[in-house]
Amino acid sequence: MADATSRPVCLVSGSSSGIGAAVVRHFAAQGWDVVVNYNSGRDRAEAIATRMRQDFGVDAFVIGADLSARDEPFRLVDETVAHFGRLDVAISNSGVANYIRGEDGELIRYRFHETPPEHLDREMARVLDLNLMGAYRFGQRALKHMIDAATKETAAGHTPAHRSLLFVTSISDIAPETTRIPYGVSKAALNHAILGAAFEGGPYNITVNGLRPGVVDTPLTARPSGLIDAETGHEYTVADTYALMAEGGSQPLARIGAPEDIALAAWAFTHIPYMTGQLVAVDGGFTLAGAFPNRDLFLQEGLKRRRR
Ligand SMILES: NC(=O)c1ccc[n+]([C@@H]2O[C@H](COP(=O)([O-])OP(=O)(O)OC[C@H]3O[C@@H](n4cnc5c(N)ncnc54)[C@H](OP(=O)(O)O)[C@@H]3O)[C@@H](O)[C@H]2O)c1
Repeated sequence: MADATSRPVCLVSGSSSGIGAAVVRHFAAQGWDVVVNYNSGRDRAEAIATRMRQDFGVDAFVIGADLSARDEPFRLVDETVAHFGRLDVAISNSGVANYIRGEDGELIRYRFHETPPEHLDREMARVLDLNLMGAYRFGQRALKHMIDAATKETAAGHTPAHRSLLFVTSISDIAPETTRIPYGVSKAALNHAILGAAFEGGPYNITVNGLRPGVVDTPLTARPSGLIDAETGHEYTVADTYALMAEGGSQPLARIGAPEDIALAAWAFTHIPYMTGQLVAVDGGFTLAGAFPNRDLFLQEGLKRRRR
């Protein structure tokens, strides 16, 4: 991807925290210039950028943007291209879960059939505005810049360089959880845009793919899960809950993911020149069907229930 005149450039939305921060750091460690994008975490973003400049000697450019606002995704991509003059990899990563906090700060969770209309209005808008529309617009503008660059290379008699657009969606696209349906809807809908965009990018040597993480230990999963330890009264976080389940055999790899696991996948997926239009889970095997390997567990539970 690199040309002789400048370092390749990677833009990652939502890189002031969690997965996005690990992704920009991975690219910077390989000698790429990067954009760190934040919404509320300006200080975090500046600190991440400073560390990368010191550790790897690259240009880490910080841009604030609320990608749930209509024109902000376009501005984020345009400012990146204006600053660096190129865009080799764009990764749409910003995202939020659908819960809303009540006046007392507690997370409010409703099941699908019990959600009051006014609550659903707010939580649907929150996830769709960012996870779907923000990512959609980000991808549109990034692809446009990449197509323009490829067209210029072709006009100059060169084969266009490989460029790549990656969307971080989620295994929640197909793995339902009754209080997280709006989030899953936003990610599943985005998957469709990836499939379509792959057809537009292909003729210009641009690959477009979806990376679907399982449960990863980040601030997003540090929220309370609603699961209370009966003996101690301690409430587990979402990350704790799934880590315990993984240790108990819910997935083949007995741990939840680290942000660096997803960063490695993001690097790999954006460097495979012959893979496009794919929606790939990186989830420790969470979405594999577990009934056969865990049959003893289910069998014992079934027998217990039948004897009651
Ligand atoms: N963690 C998991 O288990 C998991 C699993 C599957 C998929 N994912 C997906 O992975 C992505 C990253 O999640 P994470 O776990 O790393 O979460 P995180 O640590 O909470 O990071 C979320 C990032 O999104 C940014 N963001 C939030 N609202 C934004 C807005 N309005 N405009 C622009 N950026 C905004 C945040 O910026 P500020 O902090 O600066 O506001 C932050 O950089 C999300 O799309 C999430 O759905 C996560």
